[in-house]
Amino acid sequence: SSNAMWGGRFAAGPDAIMEAINASIGFDKRLYAQDIRGSRAHAAMLAAQGILTDSDAAAIREGLLTVLSEIEAGKFPFSTALEDIHMNVEARLKEIIGEPAGRLHTARSRNDQVATDFRLWVRDQADAAIKGLDALIRALVARAEVTADWVMPGFTHLQTAQPVTFGHHMMAYVEMFARDLGRFTDARKRMNESPLGAAALAGTGFAIDRHMTAESLGFDRPMANSLDAVSDRDFALEFLSASSICAVHLSRMAEELVIWSSAQFRFVAMSDKWSTGSSIMPQKRNPDAAELIRAKIGRILGATVALFTVMKGLPLAYSKDMQEDKEQVFDAADTLMLALAAMTGMISDLTVNRDKLEAAASNGFSTATDLADWLVREAGLPFREAHHVTGTLVAMAEKKGVDLPDLSLAEMQSVNPAITEDIFRVLGVHNSVASRQSYGGTAPDQVRAQIARWKQVLG
Ligand code: ARG
Repeated sequence: SSNAMWGGRFAAGPDAIMEAINASIGFDKRLYAQDIRGSRAHAAMLAAQGILTDSDAAAIREGLLTVLSEIEAGKFPFSTALEDIHMNVEARLKEIIGEPAGRLHTARSRNDQVATDFRLWVRDQADAAIKGLDALIRALVARAEVTADWVMPGFTHLQTAQPVTFGHHMMAYVEMFARDLGRFTDARKRMNESPLGAAALAGTGFAIDRHMTAESLGFDRPMANSLDAVSDRDFALEFLSASSICAVHLSRMAEELVIWSSAQFRFVAMSDKWSTGSSIMPQKRNPDAAELIRAKIGRILGATVALFTVMKGLPLAYSKDMQEDKEQVFDAADTLMLALAAMTGMISDLTVNRDKLEAAASNGFSTATDLADWLVREAGLPFREAHHVTGTLVAMAEKKGVDLPDLSLAEMQSVNPAITEDIFRVLGVHNSVASRQSYGGTAPDQVRAQIARWKQVLG
């Protein structure tokens, strides 16, 4: 039989495969709360404008609450033949309240309905991302506070470069995640306009009040162009883009945790709550949560590319292609929230091995730059020459199998006679980090200043 919602001109129902490719109820049922909220706002507005009688609107609004509780109780009979969440809800409403249900769709189309539902859903996810990032940032700042002067090797090319502090490293991620938080905040602001009332694409001849529905759904204003309102999914693309950048930050941090927790580093140990063992190798303690964050991030990047690809060739206004927006965003949002929560948990429960960090910081000639800087400052050498002298000293130490501070003064003077006992003052890793007093540098004072600033920002 033909479809009850649009089957007037159809003599036969769809092929079973047509139904399978067309139906979205399997996934868009996740929009039920937003769909019902939007419909209740629409019905109230139609009544306020005299387009619906008060009693019909009241019956619709009550009936929709019954539908809501049925869905929430897991008692709702979802039907694939009814395609999507919009028609499933409306058909059930008809069963519950009868004829007035058919008046709900006045001055509305599924095109503005789905755009409204989905904006409401993505808006909630932007809020969830902001909340998740806030928690992660707080965990990182708390970590940094304790470790502001814990020295560790800073790396470039994953080769020991210069000593930094663990707190400084944590605060680097605070900056990145704070920019992510800003991106979600911006995206939320831009998406917070109501498509409802754009109808199919051209607006409607009914005297609707789009400002009223916009306001009751918590939107800042109605969207200004009805074609735009039903055509674009840039709000979803923006959410995915912000998610992708955040995901890359999470993945890099996860990668560092994997490296740092390896036997070769032992910078950190993951708590039992965030590790797993091996069924064959009893000694194993695997950083699975970090690895899974690193891996699951691929889903977010994939979803982003997928939706960009769906949108890139679509003429205005609505095309059914856009039904493919939801699964991508659902999966990306689920993945992001899970990864944020897991990272926050891992950071909060992490054991940081101060001694290992310090020992590693002292290896690999990490204070060679400090030595060169001393030659510039105290002996007046041009930096390029100081660099060369220091390189010679590093080679000497490497050949002897010792670290820079283990060379004797006589050995150093054999390379450059201007070197004095004072050089040993800058060779220790603590002296090195303490000297990096430039704004944003790794000196513990600087790191603490940034921590204090962030604590004020976070309140
Ligand atoms: N399930 C559809 C979607 O997700 C709802 C909009 C359908 N509109 C239409 N003209 N067929 O996009």
